[in-house]
Amino acid sequence: IKGFDFADGFPVPTKLNIGMYHKLWKFHRDLPATPVFAYGTTKENATVPGPTIEALHGVHTHIKWTNYLPSKHILPWDPTIPTATPHKGKGIPTVVHLHGGIDEPESDGHSGAWFTARFKDRGPSWTRKTYNYHNMQHPGTLWYHDHAMGLTRVNLLAGLVGAYIIRQPSLELPLGLPYDEEFDRPLVVFDRSFSTDGSIYMDPKGNNPSIHPQWQPEYFGDAIVVNGKAWPHMTVRRRKYRFRIINASNARFFNFSFDNGLKFAIVGSDSAYIEKRVTVNSFLLAPSEIADVVVDFSKSKSKLVLLTNDAAYPYPSGDPVNAANSKVMKFIIKPKHEFDTSKIPKTLIKYPPPSLSATGVLTRYISLYEYTSPIDEPTHLYINGLPYEAPATETPKVGTTEIWNVINLTEDNHPLHIHLGLFTVLDQTELVDVDEFKECMLKNNDAIECGVHRYAVGRKPRVPAYENGWKNVFKLMPGHITKILVRFSYIHSNESYPFDATAEPGYVYHCHILDHEDNAMMRPLKFTQ
Ligand code: C2O
Ligand code: CU
Repeated sequence: IKGFDFADGFPVPTKLNIGMYHKLWKFHRDLPATPVFAYGTTKENATVPGPTIEALHGVHTHIKWTNYLPSKHILPWDPTIPTATPHKGKGIPTVVHLHGGIDEPESDGHSGAWFTARFKDRGPSWTRKTYNYHNMQHPGTLWYHDHAMGLTRVNLLAGLVGAYIIRQPSLELPLGLPYDEEFDRPLVVFDRSFSTDGSIYMDPKGNNPSIHPQWQPEYFGDAIVVNGKAWPHMTVRRRKYRFRIINASNARFFNFSFDNGLKFAIVGSDSAYIEKRVTVNSFLLAPSEIADVVVDFSKSKSKLVLLTNDAAYPYPSGDPVNAANSKVMKFIIKPKHEFDTSKIPKTLIKYPPPSLSATGVLTRYISLYEYTSPIDEPTHLYINGLPYEAPATETPKVGTTEIWNVINLTEDNHPLHIHLGLFTVLDQTELVDVDEFKECMLKNNDAIECGVHRYAVGRKPRVPAYENGWKNVFKLMPGHITKILVRFSYIHSNESYPFDATAEPGYVYHCHILDHEDNAMMRPLKFTQ
């Protein structure tokens, strides 16, 4: 659906009404219909994923998100983790975040700004019904999804996700990439398990049931769903297609490749174009990451081609993929030769580097922890050893650029997502004697005091070329320190934000494994003037 109108031939802002509805959805012809929560302008047209919203650079989109959900959730959840709780215990808290959006705090979908059906109950940081998306940022792919405190994992599992594209034709059309509806498509990919009655299966029992009766450290499903269908096929013409691949899984990483050697030309990562196209046989996508890729089916040696996945789960040291979750979707290529004028230019869009202020750049150390119970099962995760409710410690100045050294003290890879800002990865360094360092960190939680630079002397894995651009999520390797340059200003211009980023309720940053984010690998991000 269009995020703008026309008046006298010119694009003007529009207001959309999008609801969240409880309905039945067919994920596969052999599976009974599944109860889901779906976004739509009406219950009848609500879909999983929700409608793709197409916005225009420079034209605001106003969206009133309304909750029409029933009083009880369709999935089990867990009140023992920090969770949005409606006053009479009735209703399902929801709040929508536009992931990758550069918007004011009041429209950012803060975890505490939740609301239940028809705004009956509202969370402590709720401020408004209609969100204003500025669309003043660089063109690219975003996605919207639920963000309610402690319920993000179950609300997304139930179906509350959708794609959002910001287009800037004056900048993008000259690139010559596939750009119209038929050849430029989002692919929203996630994994699910289903019971034989068609319902989404989620383990009702926690891994540490005496502490958290339901919470599990990661959700994985064996069925791979693309644009709402399990293991779908798509008939394509013998030409180039652009796919904006969004990993909307809770915890599953995908390492995508084609079974016949067909290649991907990557042109964008997360919300932004990269400077130079990168051609690869495979690429790794963590939860919430986006790859903007062009596939030229005229180069295919076979008329059927499978998109496959071989990422272990949890990533990187979990189970290997199996016959089910290693298959993603099938493309059937029409035999007829096509006249294709679209291109994959070598150079896409170059953004000027940020100007680092003369007074020096603020450097932060951010550490990720996992805590386990006596039975050696994860109980919760924290950032900097602090619960989400502890007062904000990351309080950057609007318009500045900072260096964050993010230290992963766990055994898993965590995709770190920062709201509002974009960042580039400067380097990643393996920590030696990580257990010794971790022991110190668990005691006093101060990377400098624990001598992080004495430990940060291991290998320096290269950042893949296709991730060498402005990102809003990055995969933090276990036992490594990842140095990022975070920019709290637009990447395409020196103009300041057309809104007050210091307003309440502020923003958040977190791990985008949803089961981690909910318990509680998330911290507030508050700006100062
Ligand atoms: Cu995609 Cu804070 O989330
Ligand atoms: Cu995590």
